[in-house]
Amino acid sequence: MKVIIASDHGGITIREEIKRLLEEMNIQYEDIGCSCETSVDYPDYALPAAQKVADGEYDYGILVCGTGIGMSIAANKVKGIRCALVHDTFSAKATREHNNANMLAMGERVIGAGLAREIVQTFLNTEFTGGRHANRVEKITSYENQ
Ligand code: RB5
Repeated sequence: MKVIIASDHGGITIREEIKRLLEEMNIQYEDIGCSCETSVDYPDYALPAAQKVADGEYDYGILVCGTGIGMSIAANKVKGIRCALVHDTFSAKATREHNNANMLAMGERVIGAGLAREIVQTFLNTEFTGGRHANRVEKITSYENQ
């Protein structure tokens, strides 16, 4: 499994914690920044990360900003991306099982690093259920391929 991770200035602390977690889980990852705490624009990080997931270079992407909202909105503009904004473990499991989400967005001003770790563990350890959920995801894919 290969994961790409990115944050803006509002998500650096959780991004660093998630990198430690991925190392503990022996999961290969690429961190594309941001590299400083001065104000940056979240689309400059969400869009390239999402494109690399859409291109198949990475299996999953993890995005962090202040709220997670901007990152998720931007990532979901990229064809093939299903980015879920998640702040609880129930949703982390459900979005993999039901939506086959390939990206996860979280907000550092919303949750702490401990919960973010549990969300990432749950997200990466949960498989897509398929079946009736596959039909639903396929309807989204068909729409974006029109
Ligand atoms: C940056 O101030 C903040 O707007 C950003 O991190 C994010 O929350 C946007 O959705």
